Amino acid sequence: LNYRTTRFMVSAARVDQCPPEYGREVAFAGRSNAGKSSALNALTGSSKLARTSKTPGRTQLINFFEIDEEHRLVDLPGYGYAKVPEKMKHEWQRHLGAYLEQRECLVGVVLLMDIRHPMKEFDQIMIDWARQSQLPLHILLTKSDKLKFGAAKGIMIKLRSQLKDMEGLVTIQLFSSLKKTGVDELRGTLDSWLCQ
Ligand code: GTP
Ligand code: MG
Repeated sequence: LNYRTTRFMVSAARVDQCPPEYGREVAFAGRSNAGKSSALNALTGSSKLARTSKTPGRTQLINFFEIDEEHRLVDLPGYGYAKVPEKMKHEWQRHLGAYLEQRECLVGVVLLMDIRHPMKEFDQIMIDWARQSQLPLHILLTKSDKLKFGAAKGIMIKLRSQLKDMEGLVTIQLFSSLKKTGVDELRGTLDSWLCQ
């Protein structure tokens, strides 16, 4: 697919505001500040398609982007922003859960983790959910530019062995939006999910 023509479509505050179910879509999930919006921008070669921010919790809505008429990318709200009131956090989780469970055109989830803070509670929840629903998961260890290559690779290998029981369902790669590392590998996975 040509990701460079990706355009913003619509934001949804609730599941019933999502665009109609047709074609296929892939969602980007992860803790607040993990680098979801930056990864979408790196993938599409646009610096301002998805809004990025130093302030965690920037993306509060489910944002839909259209690659073409049949294929979409979805920027999910970041999980776990500490300064958000407890009640709002629960709302987000509810909407996120509803989206993941109800959306039939969802063919896979890209789960982003800051390579310096992998496998936090939210990540574990997403992994368990993928196992249960048998939906493929592609993990990006983001901001890999923050570590030396050997150290980054070591973390990836350790995570692969931790998730050995999910072979075939989970793939893991290093990624850096800053250095554009791993963009082609990500495109390969998305192509395989979206173009079936
Ligand atoms: P929320 O929308 O709050 O959930 O955050 P997000 O996951 O969309 O993160 P975002 O892309 O906004 O990035 C958060 C911060 O991390 C920003 O300051 C980015 O510049 C920085 N960042 C993102 N990707 C990278 C990367 O690959 N390398 C480095 N060094 N910084 C990055
Ligand atoms: Mg964001």
